[in-house]
Amino acid sequence: MNTPATSAAAASPAVKIRIDGLSKTYGTFTALEPTTLDVQRGEFLTLLGPSGSGKTTLLQMVSGLTPATSGRLAVDGEDWTHRPVHDRNMGLVFQHYALFPHMTVEENVAFPLRMRKQPAEQIKRAVAETLEKVQLDRFAHRFPRELSGGQQQRVALARCFVFRPEIILMDEPLGALDKALRETMQLEIRRLHREFGTTLIYVTHDQEEALVMSDRICVMNHAKVEQLGTPTQIYSDPETIFAATFIGHSNLLEGTLAGTDAAGNTLIKTPAGTFAGRMGARDAGAEKHALIVRPERVSLGAATGPGMNELRATLRDVVYIGSDNRLMLTLPDGSEVTLRQDPGAETDMAIGQEIAVHWPIAAGRVVS
Ligand SMILES: Nc1ncnc2c1ncn2[C@@H]1O[C@H](COP(=O)(O)OP(=O)(O)OP(=O)(O)O)[C@@H](O)[C@H]1O
Ligand SMILES: [Mg+2]
Repeated sequence: MNTPATSAAAASPAVKIRIDGLSKTYGTFTALEPTTLDVQRGEFLTLLGPSGSGKTTLLQMVSGLTPATSGRLAVDGEDWTHRPVHDRNMGLVFQHYALFPHMTVEENVAFPLRMRKQPAEQIKRAVAETLEKVQLDRFAHRFPRELSGGQQQRVALARCFVFRPEIILMDEPLGALDKALRETMQLEIRRLHREFGTTLIYVTHDQEEALVMSDRICVMNHAKVEQLGTPTQIYSDPETIFAATFIGHSNLLEGTLAGTDAAGNTLIKTPAGTFAGRMGARDAGAEKHALIVRPERVSLGAATGPGMNELRATLRDVVYIGSDNRLMLTLPDGSEVTLRQDPGAETDMAIGQEIAVHWPIAAGRVVS
């Protein structure tokens, strides 16, 4: 009993879920390569990646609905690899929220508590409280068919949060809603997550949604994790070409490694010239390298001092996108560079004109 030194829970109380080499294969097809990551207690972790990248597969293995081919799962330091679904007490919300059509909103939300045989008075109180939190108290006696899509999804959320699960898994829960409603619900889920202190794993293929909602994002591609980090880390320090292009807009100057400069920056030789950047590639021996620079780090004009990269390109288009102007430039080899400019800024540049742009060396990252 008294062996805290060997207990994983005691050794790392911050870790709620430990995913340790979980993998899934179907015959010869690999749906998920062995994956290892820790989800912190109370964390909002998002699995983000394109269709077929293995997000649902990973989530389902955590839920217990899909058995893993290899690896282990631990919760609070306890081995849950083979624990049956009904003993996991996790809240699950999916894209198709599957409310019970013959039950009212109130009955739907009460369902998980009835299953857990809670006393009637307690159920009544918990349901009323939760419905109020998702602003559905006025709809308690309606049936799902009498609700809008957004309201139905709120019922699904209430039904999940009502029994206060320590872990909630959500798989594209807002996928069926329009953009405006999705944005409202994103904030709502975030608020509920904070309020209840739940550990939450959320699946989406929408990068904006992931940036808005998450404490950390796990970027997935081709059945494996590309990068795991905070939204800021992923956005400003992408580690792979995939992560850089999947999240936000990136300028990508492809080329070959050409050593380092005196300051230790990595040099990359591209058709538009040789540039310096911070080495970020995990694999220096990779065939394909690129310098990544976010559009907001690129400025008009020639370099103003040392520590800058500069290039010249042809202005192809200026697009007004509300919050700023987007300037699109074409390089001699046909590749493109985009930069952002304050919409109020004076522009006496003509389309087709050659212009110089520059960016700090520190703003560029060489990835593969
Ligand atoms: N039961 C199965 N049998 C065979 N292959 C499967 C099975 N379930 C999933 N796969 C395959 O595993 C891969 C990963 O699927 P998964 O559902 O995890 O993707 P996803 O990232 O959730 O994609 P989406 O965004 O489209 O939901 C896919 O190529 C899928 O076709
Ligand atoms: Mg999926």
